[in-house]
Amino acid sequence: MSDNNKKDDQDYETTGHSWDGIEEYNKPLPKWWLMIFYACIVWGVGYTIAYPAWPGVRTATAGLLGWSTRGNVEQAIQDHEAELAPINERLASAELTEIAGDPELNTYAQNAGAAVFRTWCAQCHGSGAAGAKGYPNLLDDDWLWGGTIEDIHYTVTAGIRNEDTDEEWLRQSAMPAFGRDDLLSGEEIDQVVNFVMTLSGEEPRDASLVEAGAEVYDINCASCHAEDGTGDRMQGAPNLTDAIWLYGGDYETLHETVYNARYGVMPAMGGADLSEAEIRAVATYVHGLGGGE
Ligand code: HEC
Ligand code: HEC
Repeated sequence: MSDNNKKDDQDYETTGHSWDGIEEYNKPLPKWWLMIFYACIVWGVGYTIAYPAWPGVRTATAGLLGWSTRGNVEQAIQDHEAELAPINERLASAELTEIAGDPELNTYAQNAGAAVFRTWCAQCHGSGAAGAKGYPNLLDDDWLWGGTIEDIHYTVTAGIRNEDTDEEWLRQSAMPAFGRDDLLSGEEIDQVVNFVMTLSGEEPRDASLVEAGAEVYDINCASCHAEDGTGDRMQGAPNLTDAIWLYGGDYETLHETVYNARYGVMPAMGGADLSEAEIRAVATYVHGLGGGE
């Protein structure tokens, strides 16, 4: 190995330091160590020239190779997208009703749709799609606007009551605020709320008002919620007879709904946000959750 072993310790000169007779040898560093040390310096200089290294005010120097972690991620995403392009194209151009019957497309759409759902839908409809007050449950077969794959595809594309579009979208109808806008008196609202409670078999708070409430209902509500209270999907008017409530079926909640209306809004996902393939994937996923028609 190094020449350290060839000599006795006495052959080395000392540094001249001496502590109580203990002296310090001046031994050279092992050659192999020195070589690595110099190689590291050379490599380090080369590295700072080739790669981003020296911090500047806003970013570091870019380096001659132009390498960046962000560039790597972009490349990886591009590669991934190129890989998926053929199946995305097939998904975007297939008949909506035929996706579920095509095993390859269906498996892909279900998986991709679940991922889209987690990113774009779960914050409102819940990670399990069970919804919350004002945000419909997408697992059951109770639909405001319709549960066919076409209906769901349309809802996701166009949104609901979303105002930042010039298009003549459907899904714009809204319930009037009967109290706030003085369309009904307080007494009439009290009556119709009691009547609506009976539609789903609930005990009304004041049974003596139900008959008058039925009249108020026929004049003001039946055009949207239907004479028998089963609702109208063309207008997104919920079924009031099924005891499945978007906002709630107790007296206070119903009163609030009739007095102020609700105006539930869902953003349109078509256009800038989601690609056609992504919309179809998430529509297929939602359709497959159990309540699809
Ligand atoms: C900002 C909240 C929000 C987001 C995000 C959102 N939704 Fe909605 N969604 C709503 C609301 C509110 C309604 C009900 C509107 C109404 O009162 O008619 C709704 C209704 C729906 C309906 C109609 C249900 C029915 O019974 O007809 C479907 C289907 C739906 N959403 C799917 C989705 C999907 C899929 C996504 C993700 C791509 C999504 N939503 C993202 C708020 C949202
Ligand atoms: C122009 C159509 C229209 C008319 C008229 C109308 N509604 Fe509605 N109603 C809707 C829509 C649309 C919704 C969905 C709620 C939303 O805006 O998010 C709704 C929601 C409701 C709900 C909430 C149901 C739930 O599941 O929580 C109740 C209750 C209701 N309406 C009762 C009435 C009563 C009572 C009247 C008459 C006094 C009436 N509506 C008149 C369209 C209408």
